[in-house]
Amino acid sequence: MATLPDGAPLRGKLFIVEGIDGSGKSTQLDLLHKWLVSKGYLVAFTEWNSSPVVRQTTKRGKERKLLSSTSFSLIHAADLADRIEHYILPALRAGAIVLADRYIYTAFARDVARGVNREWVRAIYNFAIQPTLALYFRVPLDESLQRILVGRPELKYYEAGQDLGLSEDPYESFKLFQGRILLEYEHIVGEFGLTPIDATQALVQQQARVRKLVQPHLKGARKVDQRPWREVLSKEGLHGRYLNSAAQEES
Ligand SMILES: Nc1ncnc2c1ncn2[C@@H]1O[C@H](COP(=O)(O)OP(=O)(O)OP(=O)(O)O)[C@@H](O)[C@H]1O
Ligand SMILES: [Mg+2]
Repeated sequence: MATLPDGAPLRGKLFIVEGIDGSGKSTQLDLLHKWLVSKGYLVAFTEWNSSPVVRQTTKRGKERKLLSSTSFSLIHAADLADRIEHYILPALRAGAIVLADRYIYTAFARDVARGVNREWVRAIYNFAIQPTLALYFRVPLDESLQRILVGRPELKYYEAGQDLGLSEDPYESFKLFQGRILLEYEHIVGEFGLTPIDATQALVQQQARVRKLVQPHLKGARKVDQRPWREVLSKEGLHGRYLNSAAQEES
Protein backbone atom coordinates (compact mmCIF):
# COMPACT_ATOMS: atom_id res chain seq x y z
CA MET A 1 0.00 0.00 0.00
CA ALA A 2 1.20 3.52 -0.73
CA THR A 3 0.73 5.87 2.20
CA LEU A 4 0.69 9.61 2.78
CA PRO A 5 3.39 11.04 5.08
CA ASP A 6 0.89 10.91 7.99
CA GLY A 7 0.38 7.18 7.38
CA ALA A 8 -3.03 7.47 5.68
CA PRO A 9 -3.40 4.71 3.08
CA LEU A 10 -4.03 5.33 -0.61
CA ARG A 11 -5.90 2.94 -2.86
CA GLY A 12 -3.25 2.91 -5.60
CA LYS A 13 0.20 1.37 -5.54
CA LEU A 14 3.51 3.14 -5.92
CA PHE A 15 6.38 1.02 -7.20
CA ILE A 16 9.72 2.75 -7.50
CA VAL A 17 13.16 1.75 -8.81
CA GLU A 18 16.54 2.92 -7.61
CA GLY A 19 20.19 2.22 -8.38
CA ILE A 20 23.26 3.83 -9.92
CA ASP A 21 23.34 4.86 -13.58
CA GLY A 22 23.33 1.82 -15.83
CA SER A 23 22.02 -0.59 -13.20
CA GLY A 24 19.11 -1.49 -15.52
CA LYS A 25 16.27 0.29 -13.70
CA SER A 26 14.53 1.71 -16.76
CA THR A 27 14.82 -1.56 -18.66
CA GLN A 28 13.14 -3.50 -15.84
CA LEU A 29 10.51 -0.86 -15.13
CA ASP A 30 9.55 -0.74 -18.79
CA LEU A 31 9.06 -4.52 -18.86
CA LEU A 32 7.03 -4.34 -15.66
CA HIS A 33 4.92 -1.54 -17.15
CA LYS A 34 4.07 -3.61 -20.23
CA TRP A 35 3.22 -6.63 -18.11
CA LEU A 36 0.88 -4.66 -15.82
CA VAL A 37 -0.87 -3.06 -18.80
CA SER A 38 -1.30 -6.49 -20.42
CA LYS A 39 -3.00 -7.62 -17.20
CA GLY A 40 -5.44 -4.75 -17.55
CA TYR A 41 -4.20 -2.43 -14.79
CA LEU A 42 -4.39 1.33 -14.94
CA VAL A 43 -0.73 2.35 -14.93
CA ALA A 44 0.90 5.77 -14.70
CA PHE A 45 4.61 6.35 -15.24
CA THR A 46 6.76 9.16 -13.89
CA GLU A 47 10.48 9.84 -13.90
CA TRP A 48 12.99 11.89 -11.98
CA ASN A 49 13.52 15.51 -12.96
CA SER A 50 10.70 15.66 -15.49
CA SER A 51 8.38 18.31 -14.05
CA PRO A 52 7.70 21.31 -16.33
CA VAL A 53 7.90 23.54 -13.24
CA VAL A 54 11.69 23.22 -12.99
CA ARG A 55 12.62 22.51 -16.62
CA GLN A 56 13.76 25.99 -17.63
CA THR A 57 15.56 26.70 -14.36
CA THR A 58 17.42 23.40 -14.53
CA LYS A 59 18.37 23.89 -18.17
CA ARG A 60 19.64 27.41 -17.57
CA GLY A 61 21.41 26.45 -14.34
CA LYS A 62 23.16 23.52 -15.99
CA GLU A 63 24.16 25.42 -19.13
CA ARG A 64 25.70 28.25 -17.16
CA LYS A 65 27.02 26.00 -14.39
CA LEU A 66 25.17 28.04 -11.80
CA LEU A 67 24.00 25.21 -9.55
CA SER A 68 25.49 24.61 -6.14
CA SER A 69 24.86 21.24 -4.48
CA THR A 70 22.14 22.80 -2.27
CA SER A 71 20.32 24.63 -5.04
CA PHE A 72 20.50 21.52 -7.23
CA SER A 73 19.03 19.48 -4.38
CA LEU A 74 16.20 21.96 -3.89
CA ILE A 75 15.37 21.92 -7.60
CA HIS A 76 14.98 18.14 -7.47
CA ALA A 77 12.77 18.44 -4.40
CA ALA A 78 10.61 21.00 -6.22
CA ASP A 79 10.42 18.64 -9.19
CA LEU A 80 9.11 15.78 -7.05
CA ALA A 81 6.76 18.02 -5.05
CA ASP A 82 5.16 19.14 -8.30
CA ARG A 83 4.87 15.63 -9.73
CA ILE A 84 3.38 14.31 -6.48
CA GLU A 85 0.79 17.06 -6.30
CA HIS A 86 -0.27 17.07 -9.94
CA TYR A 87 0.30 13.53 -11.09
CA ILE A 88 1.31 10.87 -8.56
CA LEU A 89 -1.21 11.64 -5.82
CA PRO A 90 -4.26 12.03 -8.11
CA ALA A 91 -3.31 8.76 -9.85
CA LEU A 92 -2.94 6.93 -6.52
CA ARG A 93 -6.23 8.35 -5.25
CA ALA A 94 -7.86 6.98 -8.40
CA GLY A 95 -6.45 3.54 -7.60
CA ALA A 96 -3.82 3.48 -10.34
CA ILE A 97 -0.45 1.80 -10.19
CA VAL A 98 2.25 4.45 -10.37
CA LEU A 99 5.69 3.44 -11.59
CA ALA A 100 8.46 5.86 -10.67
CA ASP A 101 11.88 5.73 -12.32
CA ARG A 102 13.96 7.04 -9.38
CA TYR A 103 12.45 8.51 -6.23
CA ILE A 104 13.60 10.25 -3.02
CA TYR A 105 16.46 7.77 -2.51
CA THR A 106 18.13 9.15 -5.64
CA ALA A 107 18.33 12.51 -3.88
CA PHE A 108 19.52 10.88 -0.66
CA ALA A 109 22.33 9.14 -2.56
CA ARG A 110 23.28 11.71 -5.18
CA ASP A 111 22.93 14.91 -3.19
CA VAL A 112 24.88 13.48 -0.26
CA ALA A 113 27.56 12.31 -2.70
CA ARG A 114 27.63 15.99 -3.74
CA GLY A 115 28.28 17.07 -0.17
CA VAL A 116 24.74 17.89 1.00
CA ASN A 117 23.97 17.07 4.63
CA ARG A 118 22.31 13.63 5.11
CA GLU A 119 19.68 14.71 7.62
CA TRP A 120 18.89 17.92 5.80
CA VAL A 121 18.07 16.20 2.52
CA ARG A 122 15.93 13.57 4.27
CA ALA A 123 13.98 16.31 6.06
CA ILE A 124 13.39 18.24 2.82
CA TYR A 125 11.52 15.27 1.38
CA ASN A 126 9.16 14.75 4.32
CA PHE A 127 6.25 15.54 1.97
CA ALA A 128 6.89 12.40 -0.08
CA ILE A 129 4.44 9.52 -0.33
CA GLN A 130 5.69 6.25 1.13
CA PRO A 131 6.09 3.80 -1.77
CA THR A 132 4.38 0.41 -1.77
CA LEU A 133 7.60 -1.25 -2.87
CA ALA A 134 11.05 0.21 -3.48
CA LEU A 135 13.40 -1.89 -5.58
CA TYR A 136 17.14 -1.36 -5.49
CA PHE A 137 19.11 -2.63 -8.48
CA ARG A 138 22.44 -3.61 -7.02
CA VAL A 139 25.30 -3.77 -9.48
CA PRO A 140 29.09 -3.45 -9.10
CA LEU A 141 30.47 -0.15 -10.36
CA ASP A 142 32.58 -1.79 -13.11
CA GLU A 143 29.56 -3.57 -14.57
CA SER A 144 27.42 -0.44 -14.73
CA LEU A 145 30.26 1.61 -16.19
CA GLN A 146 30.84 -0.99 -18.85
CA ARG A 147 27.15 -0.91 -19.77
CA ILE A 148 26.91 2.83 -20.21
CA LEU A 149 30.37 3.88 -21.32
CA VAL A 150 30.78 1.33 -24.13
CA GLY A 151 30.21 3.82 -26.92
CA ARG A 152 32.16 6.58 -25.10
CA PRO A 153 29.07 8.81 -24.96
CA GLU A 154 29.58 12.46 -24.23
CA LEU A 155 29.15 13.05 -20.50
CA LYS A 156 27.57 16.27 -19.35
CA TYR A 157 29.18 18.43 -16.66
CA TYR A 158 26.73 17.71 -13.81
CA GLU A 159 26.06 14.14 -14.91
CA ALA A 160 29.79 13.43 -14.57
CA GLY A 161 29.83 15.19 -11.18
CA GLN A 162 32.41 17.66 -12.46
CA ASP A 163 30.96 20.33 -10.19
CA LEU A 164 32.68 18.44 -7.37
CA GLY A 165 36.14 19.03 -8.81
CA LEU A 166 37.10 15.37 -8.45
CA SER A 167 38.89 15.22 -11.80
CA GLU A 168 39.31 17.29 -14.95
CA ASP A 169 38.60 14.21 -17.05
CA PRO A 170 34.82 13.71 -17.35
CA TYR A 171 35.14 9.90 -17.45
CA GLU A 172 37.35 9.75 -14.39
CA SER A 173 35.06 12.22 -12.60
CA PHE A 174 31.99 10.17 -13.55
CA LYS A 175 33.54 6.98 -12.15
CA LEU A 176 34.49 8.63 -8.86
CA PHE A 177 31.06 10.27 -8.55
CA GLN A 178 29.18 7.04 -9.29
CA GLY A 179 31.38 5.24 -6.74
CA ARG A 180 30.36 7.73 -4.06
CA ILE A 181 26.70 7.37 -4.98
CA LEU A 182 26.97 3.58 -4.79
CA LEU A 183 28.36 3.82 -1.24
CA GLU A 184 25.47 6.06 -0.21
CA TYR A 185 22.92 3.67 -1.73
CA GLU A 186 24.36 0.82 0.30
CA HIS A 187 23.54 2.75 3.53
CA ILE A 188 20.10 3.68 2.27
CA VAL A 189 19.06 0.09 1.46
CA GLY A 190 19.18 -0.87 5.14
CA GLU A 191 17.98 2.46 6.50
CA PHE A 192 14.78 2.50 4.41
CA GLY A 193 14.24 -1.19 3.76
CA LEU A 194 14.64 -1.13 -0.01
CA THR A 195 14.35 -4.54 -1.66
CA PRO A 196 17.61 -5.44 -3.41
CA ILE A 197 17.63 -7.07 -6.83
CA ASP A 198 20.78 -8.68 -8.18
CA ALA A 199 21.19 -6.45 -11.23
CA THR A 200 24.05 -8.52 -12.65
CA GLN A 201 21.59 -11.26 -13.56
CA ALA A 202 20.14 -11.70 -17.02
CA LEU A 203 17.30 -9.40 -17.94
CA VAL A 204 14.64 -12.13 -17.98
CA GLN A 205 15.63 -13.56 -14.58
CA GLN A 206 15.49 -10.12 -13.00
CA GLN A 207 12.10 -9.42 -14.50
CA ALA A 208 10.75 -12.68 -13.11
CA ARG A 209 11.89 -11.61 -9.64
CA VAL A 210 10.46 -8.11 -10.06
CA ARG A 211 7.05 -9.52 -11.02
CA LYS A 212 7.11 -11.95 -8.12
CA LEU A 213 7.79 -9.09 -5.71
CA VAL A 214 5.11 -6.87 -7.22
CA GLN A 215 2.38 -9.53 -7.52
CA PRO A 216 1.31 -9.67 -3.83
CA HIS A 217 0.64 -5.92 -3.85
CA LEU A 218 -1.72 -5.82 -6.82
CA LYS A 219 -4.93 -6.60 -4.99
CA GLY A 220 -7.27 -3.60 -5.05
CA ALA A 221 -5.45 -1.77 -7.85
CA ARG A 222 -7.76 -0.35 -10.48
CA LYS A 223 -8.21 -2.15 -13.76
CA VAL A 224 -9.10 -0.43 -17.01
CA ASP A 225 -12.40 -1.28 -18.55
CA GLN A 226 -11.29 -3.08 -21.71
CA ARG A 227 -14.72 -4.16 -22.91
CA PRO A 228 -15.27 -1.48 -25.58
CA TRP A 229 -12.19 -2.26 -27.66
CA ARG A 230 -12.57 -5.96 -27.04
CA GLU A 231 -16.05 -5.74 -28.49
CA VAL A 232 -14.78 -3.86 -31.54
CA LEU A 233 -12.03 -6.42 -32.16
CA SER A 234 -14.44 -9.23 -31.59
CA LYS A 235 -16.96 -7.78 -34.09
CA GLU A 236 -14.21 -7.51 -36.69
CA GLY A 237 -13.32 -11.13 -36.07
CA LEU A 238 -9.91 -10.17 -34.75
CA HIS A 239 -9.77 -12.65 -31.91
CA GLY A 240 -6.14 -13.25 -31.08
CA ARG A 241 -4.28 -15.39 -28.62
CA TYR A 242 -3.72 -12.42 -26.31
CA LEU A 243 -7.30 -11.24 -26.49
CA ASN A 244 -8.60 -14.67 -25.55
CA SER A 245 -6.19 -15.28 -22.69
CA ALA A 246 -6.76 -11.79 -21.25
CA ALA A 247 -10.52 -12.33 -21.40
CA GLN A 248 -10.17 -15.62 -19.54
CA GLU A 249 -8.08 -13.96 -16.85
CA GLU A 250 -10.77 -11.34 -16.32
CA SER A 251 -13.60 -13.80 -15.94
N1 LIG B 1 20.56 -7.39 -17.13
C1 LIG B 1 21.31 -6.68 -17.98
N2 LIG B 1 22.46 -7.20 -18.46
C2 LIG B 1 23.22 -6.49 -19.32
N3 LIG B 1 22.93 -5.26 -19.79
C3 LIG B 1 21.79 -4.70 -19.34
C4 LIG B 1 20.94 -5.38 -18.42
N4 LIG B 1 19.89 -4.58 -18.15
C5 LIG B 1 20.08 -3.47 -18.87
N5 LIG B 1 21.22 -3.53 -19.58
C6 LIG B 1 21.75 -2.50 -20.50
O1 LIG B 1 22.45 -1.54 -19.71
C7 LIG B 1 22.22 -0.23 -20.21
C8 LIG B 1 21.60 0.62 -19.10
O2 LIG B 1 20.29 0.12 -18.79
P1 LIG B 1 19.15 1.09 -18.28
O3 LIG B 1 19.03 2.26 -19.19
O4 LIG B 1 17.94 0.26 -18.05
O5 LIG B 1 19.79 1.54 -16.90
P2 LIG B 1 19.31 2.66 -15.89
O6 LIG B 1 19.55 2.10 -14.53
O7 LIG B 1 17.94 3.10 -16.23
O8 LIG B 1 20.36 3.83 -16.16
P3 LIG B 1 20.18 5.43 -15.90
O9 LIG B 1 20.21 5.62 -14.43
O10 LIG B 1 21.38 6.02 -16.56
O11 LIG B 1 18.88 5.85 -16.53
C9 LIG B 1 21.31 -0.38 -21.44
O12 LIG B 1 22.12 -0.37 -22.59
C10 LIG B 1 20.66 -1.73 -21.22
O13 LIG B 1 20.32 -2.33 -22.44
MG1 LIG C 1 17.14 4.99 -16.74
